[in-house]
Amino acid sequence: MGKKFDLVKVPTQKGRVAIVTGANTGLGFETALAFAKKEIKVIMACRNEQKANDAINRIKEEVTEANLEFIPIDLMDLESVKSFAAAFKKGHDRLDLLINNAGIMIPPYQETKQGFESQMGVNYFSHFLLTGLLIDLINSTKGSRIVTLSSIAHQTGEIDFDNLNADEATYKKSKVYSQSKLACLMFALELNRRLAAAGVDTLSVASHPGIATTELARYIPKLLYYVLYPIFIFMSHNPENGALPTIMAALDDDVHGGDYFGPSSKREMKGPPKKVKGRPHAYDEDVARKLWEVSEELVSFKFDV
Ligand SMILES: NC(=O)c1ccc[n+]([C@@H]2O[C@H](COP(=O)([O-])OP(=O)(O)OC[C@H]3O[C@@H](n4cnc5c(N)ncnc54)[C@H](OP(=O)(O)O)[C@@H]3O)[C@@H](O)[C@H]2O)c1
Repeated sequence: MGKKFDLVKVPTQKGRVAIVTGANTGLGFETALAFAKKEIKVIMACRNEQKANDAINRIKEEVTEANLEFIPIDLMDLESVKSFAAAFKKGHDRLDLLINNAGIMIPPYQETKQGFESQMGVNYFSHFLLTGLLIDLINSTKGSRIVTLSSIAHQTGEIDFDNLNADEATYKKSKVYSQSKLACLMFALELNRRLAAAGVDTLSVASHPGIATTELARYIPKLLYYVLYPIFIFMSHNPENGALPTIMAALDDDVHGGDYFGPSSKREMKGPPKKVKGRPHAYDEDVARKLWEVSEELVSFKFDV
């Protein structure tokens, strides 16, 4: 068993810069708050200015000196991802931590600006492009890390190359969510293999929160949600604890490229964070390579690693 992660014992990270997508609520908010406590400058990469400012105010109530900046990003639009990356690069010459956190789960069928099914678009393709656009800066920052959020849902996921972007007629929302979270995990692992092969010291790792009580449940039908609520509460933990695997992945000193972090209970639904293992199919290098190549084509961007 590895050593326990204790956030209190993590030393100050003053001078370091992090981007957290979806930092205004849920796990992203808790991650940003923890980073602020460690004196990291946090870029709040959010789509809604009002929500971002409210989150900034809530963090400042706890950490008066917090260094926080809102830069807008809408992951439903690759052009917005490009504008975000350009705006960030204009004001910063280093990026220590990129946290690919924002996500949506089982929404009704909708398409992103470029016509991707929204769960694949927001959870996976936009973060793929965002990472690619920032990778030069990340790689030039010593000790940098990229943490990508996956989920227990990856376990039942399958990369369906014949239908990577479901259309309305073939849309099965839970299946697509699982696919998007498997894609995130495979991306984190493939990115790490590529970084290692290129001889850069940047680490790409992944994390999942188990089950945390956040707004991610917003698309679960209300009646079903209330019926399942007692079981849900028993199985889950709060966002503060749910964010710990991500924070451990970002800040612990015993982290290696390709590591995956999650809660420590038997089914990884809650509990203190630790290193975990994804399902074997997540480590399929042929599928990961093909997914990478197809993703480069679909977002019209070639990674420089
Ligand atoms: N909670 C869980 O049990 C659980 C389990 C497994 C994995 N995860 C993963 O954890 C990550 C964080 O989820 P959460 O539980 O914290 O959910 P959440 O409370 O719903 O927060 C999601 C965040 O993503 C943002 N977001 C959604 N669509 C966006 C877009 N188009 N552009 C920019 N930002 C967007 C949301 O912004 P708005 O507030 O503006 O909507 C919000 O800030 C997700 O990747 C999720 O898949 C969560």
